[in-house]
Amino acid sequence: MAGMLDPALTTIASSAVTDGLAAIDAASTLEALRSVDAELLGKAAPLSQLKASMRDVAPEQRKALGQAINEARTRLELAIADRHAELEAIARREQLAAEQLDLSEVIADRRVGHHHLITQTREMLEDAFVGLGFTVAEGPEVETDWYNFEALNMPAGHSARSMWDTLYLDAGEPETVLLRTHTSPVQVRTMMRQEPPIYIVAPGRSFRSDTADATHLPVFHQIEGLVVDKGITFADLAGTIEAFVKVLYGDDRTTRLRPSYFPFTEPSAEFDMTTATGEWVELGGCGMVNPNVLAHCGLDPEEWSGFAFGFGIERMAMQRHGLDDIREFVTNDIRFLSQF
Ligand code: PHE
Repeated sequence: MAGMLDPALTTIASSAVTDGLAAIDAASTLEALRSVDAELLGKAAPLSQLKASMRDVAPEQRKALGQAINEARTRLELAIADRHAELEAIARREQLAAEQLDLSEVIADRRVGHHHLITQTREMLEDAFVGLGFTVAEGPEVETDWYNFEALNMPAGHSARSMWDTLYLDAGEPETVLLRTHTSPVQVRTMMRQEPPIYIVAPGRSFRSDTADATHLPVFHQIEGLVVDKGITFADLAGTIEAFVKVLYGDDRTTRLRPSYFPFTEPSAEFDMTTATGEWVELGGCGMVNPNVLAHCGLDPEEWSGFAFGFGIERMAMQRHGLDDIREFVTNDIRFLSQF
């Protein structure tokens, strides 16, 4: 019976396969499958032990036993590989499901935020001025003394500087770098950068070392207007102010100019508008660009003339909505903000 395998050995091999297949099937995770793999094919596995016992088997049976063991191993290996692929696919599906975002909660809560009243007012002003043919310009909030004062006809020691309580920054020479006290330095930057004709508005934040009260904030917004062209007169300034107030508030409103003083305009004025009930409220300052300012910016005052104006955006928003405390803009009370 040379070559015939001892039935006891065949039984070990075939039951290793049957038991092994059942265990592979039962493995429900990749981790469980890994330990089943070690149990079935590792050193201590029945098949490995069977192989180790080959040397005790009659030489003529060895080949058959070796074959039986290899076949058994191959069947188990294939079954493990199949199960592995299956479990991997399941794990991938589970991971995808877990990573899916549940957007139903977001969609269910339909409250949406909106722009702050100051942003809304600034955009409304920009739209109105763009409609009148202006473009929007910007400048830095951190300025040098030269742009904020000197080029605007206020040399060092000029008494008019005290009109603006200035916040200086601890940078460079003392009192040379500051937070701009108004948007007027954007006039200077624009004239130095751009050949006339110039028709710009420059909205932005301004800073003054003021204590906050119902009508003052140390950080607030202004919008500056600047026109430089040939033959610009005071009548153009008055007409522009009248025009934008009518665009913003309606045709029944009107404006007036009162003499005032700014170092960078000559003549200078303060401008007022009528309220819905016909009273006058002050809006801002304006005037014809001072020839010294044109010259500082490299423009020939004999050739060019212009006007400028500036006013507070908070003040305008308060006027439009009948608000009486400017601090509401910055206290972030949702009951205030959600009204606009
Ligand atoms: N910059 C001035 C201020 O802040 C306003 C102004 C702008 C006046 C332009 C005249 C011309 O008070």
